[in-house]
Amino acid sequence: MTIEAASRQSIDRAAQLLRDGGLVVMPTETVYGLAGDATNARAVAAIYAAKGRPQFNPLISHLPSHERARRHGVFPPAADKLAQAFWPGALTMVLARRDDSPIAELACAGLATVALRVPAHPIAHALLGAVDRPLAAPSANRSGRLSPTQASHAVEELGDAVAIVLDGGPCTMGVESTVIALDAAGATLLRPGAIPRAAIEDVVGPLRAPSTGSAPASPGMLESHYAPRARLRLNASRAEPEERYLAFGPGSGGDLNLSPSGDLVEAAANLFAFLRALDATEANTIAVAPIPESGLGEAINDRLSRAAVRR
Ligand code: TXA
Ligand code: MG
Repeated sequence: MTIEAASRQSIDRAAQLLRDGGLVVMPTETVYGLAGDATNARAVAAIYAAKGRPQFNPLISHLPSHERARRHGVFPPAADKLAQAFWPGALTMVLARRDDSPIAELACAGLATVALRVPAHPIAHALLGAVDRPLAAPSANRSGRLSPTQASHAVEELGDAVAIVLDGGPCTMGVESTVIALDAAGATLLRPGAIPRAAIEDVVGPLRAPSTGSAPASPGMLESHYAPRARLRLNASRAEPEERYLAFGPGSGGDLNLSPSGDLVEAAANLFAFLRALDATEANTIAVAPIPESGLGEAINDRLSRAAVRR
C-alpha cells in the first residue's frame, strides 16, 4: 500500500479504484475510515474481511450532502432538523432504509435500517464527490482494536489490505461520530461520540437510551472494543510501579497527559493516539486518570470502558 498526501491526483486515483471495487483509507474529522463502494456487495464484503469484522455489525454509508443522503433513508422531521444542524459533521443517523436505495444489503447487515453520515473533512468530501457513490466506511482498524487517528495507524492496522491510504494529517476530533436512531418513537442515542449529547438534545429534545433486549440495538456496541493490547485500569489517581499513566488535567504528571488544561475536546483528539503510544511501550497495564462525564467526556468514558473489558 502507499500513503499519499492527498492531492487532486491522488483523490482521483482513489475514486477510480473505489469505482472498480477496491478499498481506500480516507481521513475524516473523527477517525480514519476504510472506504468501499457501498452499492457493491463485493467491495463491502472485502471491508468486513480486511477488518476481521463480524458480518452482523452494519457499516455507516457516507454521502456528500443531506440531499444525497435523503435518497437512501426515510427522514422524519427530526432527522431533517439534525441534518441541518450537524451535517456536514460527526453525526450518524440510523433511519428506515428506502426500498429504492442501491446500498448493498450486506452494508446494513440485512437490517431494515441504514446508517448515514455526511462527513465534513475536505478530503472525504472531495473523494465522495469524485466517486459519486455512497461509501461504506467503518473505522480503519482491525475489529475490536483502537481506531486510527493518523494515516500511519491505519497502515499498522490493515497492512496490505488496501491499495491507497489518503493522508489528511491527524484527525481533529479523534473519537467516532455520535450515532442516533430516529423512528416513529423518537430519537435514541446508540453511540456517544464526537458531538456531545447536550448539543443534540438542544435540537430534538431528550434522547432515549437503547432498549436492552437480547439483540443490541447497535450491534457495534460489543463489549470489548477500541482495545489496546495492554490491560487498562480506569479512574486511577496514579500509576503503580510497572504501569504507564495516562493523565488528564493540570499538575497530574503521567507518561502522557490527554489535556494538561483539562479540555475534553483536546482529550478526545488525543485519546486513541496516546493509548496506542503507551501500548507500544509494552507495559502490561495502562492506568488512566478519571475523566469527567460532561460534554465529550461521555464518549471518552464509553471508549475507555469498552477498551478495559478483558477479552
Ligand atoms: O466517525 C465514524 O463514525 C467513523 C468514520 C470513519 O465515519 N466510522 C465508524 O464506523 O466509526 P464503525 O463501523 O466503526 O461504527 C459504526 C457504528 C457501529 O456501532 C454500528 O453497529 C452502528 O454504527 N451501525 C451502523 N449501521 C447501523 C444500523 N443499521 N443500526 C444500528 N447501528 C448501526
Ligand atoms: Mg469502529
